[in-house]
This record gives sequence, C-alpha cells and structure tokens, in this order.
Amino acid sequence: MATDIVWHQHEVTKQTRSQQLGQQPRVIWLTGLSGSGKSTLANLLEKKLVDNKRYTYLLDGDNVRHGLCGDLGFADKDRVENIRRVSEVAKLFVDAGSIVITAFISPFQTDRDYCRKLLDDNEFVEVFVDTPLEVCEQRDPKGLYKKARNGEIKHFTGIDSTYEAPVSPEVHLDYQDESAEDTAERLYHLLVDKGLV
Ligand code: PPS
Repeated sequence: MATDIVWHQHEVTKQTRSQQLGQQPRVIWLTGLSGSGKSTLANLLEKKLVDNKRYTYLLDGDNVRHGLCGDLGFADKDRVENIRRVSEVAKLFVDAGSIVITAFISPFQTDRDYCRKLLDDNEFVEVFVDTPLEVCEQRDPKGLYKKARNGEIKHFTGIDSTYEAPVSPEVHLDYQDESAEDTAERLYHLLVDKGLV
C-alpha cells in the first residue's frame, strides 16, 4: 500500500471535457451469464451510440483478460479483483468524458455496487442481460458449458460458481426469442427512454 501520496487537482475537469464532447459520461454496465449475449449487445450498442455521435469506449471481459487482467483466473477472489480493476478503468474513462459500455459476467452484487459507488450519482447504469441458463447453455458459443459439465473447467458461472442476479438494475433486459440486432435495438430504446444515453 503506497503512503505519502497526494491527489493533484487538475485545471481541466470531467465537466470541461463532457461539455466539450456535448454528452453526459456514464458507465452502461452489462451483467449476465456467459453466453447471455453481453459482448454482442455491447458491440451493437456501441455502434448505435457512435452513429449518434457519442464518444464511447467498450470494455469486454474476454479482451481485458488478455492484458490488464491477464494474471487473473475465475476463483471468486480473482473475479472480485477483475471487477475492481475494470471499475477503476471505467471511472478513468468517465473522467475523460466517455460513455463506457462494459461486458463482464460480474457475478457479485457487491462488486457491481463497488463500481456504482466509485462514480457520481446517475453515472452507473446497471443492465441485467437476463438470458436464462438453459438458453445460454443451449447456445454455448465457445463450448464452455459442455466443458464445465464434463468437469474440464472448474468454477464455471451458473454451473459450479455463483451468479447473483441484480437486485434493482436500471434496465432489466428480459429474454425474448429475437435476433441480437432486435435485442440491441430494444436496449438502445430503453436507455434513450430513460434519458440515459
Ligand atoms: S467475471 O466473472 O466478470 O470476472 O468474468 P469475465 O471477466 O466477464 O470473463 C468471462 C469470460 O471468460 C470465459 N470463461 C469463463 N466464464 C465464466 N466462468 C469460467 N470458469 C470461465 N472460464 C472462461 C468466458 O468466455 C466468458 O465470456 P462470456 O462472454 O461471458 O461468455
């Protein structure tokens, strides 16, 4: 733990940057099981926002684990550290004025709340991508559920590792049998209707 460090107040602030960009910075935090569609939705949502002249950044679990969080596995304590680091990075991007979209399983409510508390009021938007386990397992895009069922992967979310559904998310994206594009459109409009993007 570092001691004798002092916070520097800079001349250019988050407010200055957001005014210049003409947008309210936020974190749109997608949480849900593996295979629930978080990454696909995050990707499509970012495209829509950019098409609407928003300045964005997308943080995705699989990608972040190639670098910043490459030393972490899937034991509970690693997931906690993963979300702590991602939350700090998201806060930096919000400070830079971005609309940040995150796509992490983020299975624990206390960790999602950690990110909420790091940010200012109304900057954290929790989106529950509520795709049932049976649907995720049937999709199994990376073959990971099959491996988890065969015991080849340990601590797999929904199988032998806990997923805590959000208590009161800003957006509850219930599952419907529709295309990813249609779900992304639905998500986008839910966010717009609530004045969140
Ligand atoms: S977490 O729980 O938020 O720290 O996980 P995250 O950083 O989002 O990483 C999830 C992706 O890692 C792959 N993977 C696993 N997921 C869950 N449990 C286990 N044991 C596991 N091992 C590897 C998987 O591809 C996840 O991606 P998504 O997009 O969620 O399917």
